[in-house]
Amino acid sequence: MRIDGETRVVGVFGDPIKHSASPAMHNAAFEKLRLNWRYLPFHVLPDKLEAALHGVRDMGLVGVNLTVPHKIFALALVDEVDPVARQLGAVNTVHVVDGRLVGHNTDGYGLVKALREAFGLRLKGKRVTIIGAGGAGRAVTVQCAMEGVAELCLFNRTTSKAEELARELHNDFGSVQVTVGLPASRCDLLINATSVGLRAGDPSPIARTVLAKHTFVLDMIYRPVDTKLLRDAKRAGCRVTDGLGMLLHQGARAFEIWTGRKAPVEVMRSALRRAVHTR
Ligand code: ATR
Repeated sequence: MRIDGETRVVGVFGDPIKHSASPAMHNAAFEKLRLNWRYLPFHVLPDKLEAALHGVRDMGLVGVNLTVPHKIFALALVDEVDPVARQLGAVNTVHVVDGRLVGHNTDGYGLVKALREAFGLRLKGKRVTIIGAGGAGRAVTVQCAMEGVAELCLFNRTTSKAEELARELHNDFGSVQVTVGLPASRCDLLINATSVGLRAGDPSPIARTVLAKHTFVLDMIYRPVDTKLLRDAKRAGCRVTDGLGMLLHQGARAFEIWTGRKAPVEVMRSALRRAVHTR
């Protein structure tokens, strides 16, 4: 591997960052396309995000990804926010264009691609239950509304946060029917956007009785591979997928924003699987 005066640098800011699988995915893609680029993880604390983003611009990096806990704060720190990131209320990809920091959000794109790939599912007209109303829950909920789902059922440990999100949806997407609480009727798709399941031994974020056979289940968690929710769902006869597809496709889209080249998705998928499964 050569690093020289022409090497272009991108990376990811997060706290914590040690376990990020993104460097493996992006560096494999650069290697495949023979680009003299490198993707590095940076441990950036929340109160240093502003200075670190100035560093991205001033040191001539091409851009960065942002992960927990930076995605929401970054909205106010970039020079320009693209309309999708504005609507989702979070920035996960920053691109430096003519010395300006432009904020994008590729998580929603990742969700749409992952659902199509795993289940052949399009969101338009569907009934969707989303568990979690934090940053990730908010982004997937708004993406579902943008895709024209028929009904959204929002469930969160802290009900007031789900209610607040429901009010926002009501204002911005009047045609979507939104309810708060556990799904009363059948839904086509259930998404876990909480952090419940990240630790081995975690319970499922919802009761097993809510899972019906015809419901597709996406758990945004990708490590551990088999969460209690996914095990329960499989047992109930549901088709399931973990968060790896979303992670892959949000990364592929970020790669395309930075490089202007088509992302080698299969190379990125293999690198990601290796990185996730060997830890
Ligand atoms: P992220 O950016 O990953 O979404 P977040 O904004 O901190 O992180 O949101 C975490 C989500 O996981 C929230 O929906 C949170 O529920 P609360 O709003 O009630 O805090 C949910 N969550 C975290 N721990 C949980 C637990 N033990 N049981 C149920 N929900 C939990």
